[in-house]
Amino acid sequence: MKHIKVFAPGTVANLGCGFDVMGLTLDGVGDLLEVGVEPDAEGLSIRNDSGVDLPESLDDNVITPAVRAMLEAYGRPVRVEIRLLEKIVPGSGIGSSAASSAAAVYGINELLGRPFSGKRLVEFAMQGEALLGGTAHADNVGPALLGGVVLIRGYEPFDIVRLPVPDNFFYAVAHPAIVVSTKMAREVLPREIPLSSAVKQWGNVGGLVAGFALRDVALIGRSMHDAVVEPYRKGFIPDYDVLKASALDEGALALNIAGSGPSVFALASDYAVACRIADRMKAHFAERGIACDTYAGRVSNAGARVVES
Ligand code: HSE
Repeated sequence: MKHIKVFAPGTVANLGCGFDVMGLTLDGVGDLLEVGVEPDAEGLSIRNDSGVDLPESLDDNVITPAVRAMLEAYGRPVRVEIRLLEKIVPGSGIGSSAASSAAAVYGINELLGRPFSGKRLVEFAMQGEALLGGTAHADNVGPALLGGVVLIRGYEPFDIVRLPVPDNFFYAVAHPAIVVSTKMAREVLPREIPLSSAVKQWGNVGGLVAGFALRDVALIGRSMHDAVVEPYRKGFIPDYDVLKASALDEGALALNIAGSGPSVFALASDYAVACRIADRMKAHFAERGIACDTYAGRVSNAGARVVES
């Protein structure tokens, strides 16, 4: 059996206004997997050597539906062995499940001689997301596989657009010790929205895409508003409006909820500013008796990749 080591990065989904259709790639944080395949054999095994607690049953692991979808499309028997070596903590809001599924399907595709395109890999990897939230969304697995910023223009038929990110574009992420499941965060959302909210939202999504395409950091910052989801989810995050105001005060271009939360993310055009925002976020939660992990780094154009073959 041939093995390779594959890395897939952490990601931030939604980017404020782009619920389920936009996401970006983080540098410096991600999952490392060892992936092995043996053609003309059967079976899937997943071993967790990451030290992070994960479900033990194969059927409860997000990698399983992703790999099964891929092998079904491949149509020939393949035995797959996966060993998780480093893992983003689940529930951190920076695409932990997506990084695992993305690394797994990327590695298998490499070992099989690349029968599938990046777009098809995203379609397989997103099956893992359905296990957690009941919906197969691609706003984390898309950037985890392709890198940069992605827009899912449509799900049926699936149409994904990759946008490169500007240089000198940085993130601060805070992961407070609060439990908000993706399922719970989706259940609070309305099924219908007023036309006035939709008008604001599509203006901002257009502005965000134009901002990335034109490398206009200020346009990106002022487009990252969410008239649809944030009002319903911000109640999960203590004094969210205070937190947002303090990050903006520190120089953030924008702050919003990272994916379904409870993590929040801010963007900045300077690394030192991103670090200061991360400190302010940590202090915000500490003042409310909530422990918090923070990350700061560069937004990345690099998605899943082989790091050792
Ligand atoms: N787009 C998803 C949500 C991301 O906001 O529910 C969470 O995985």
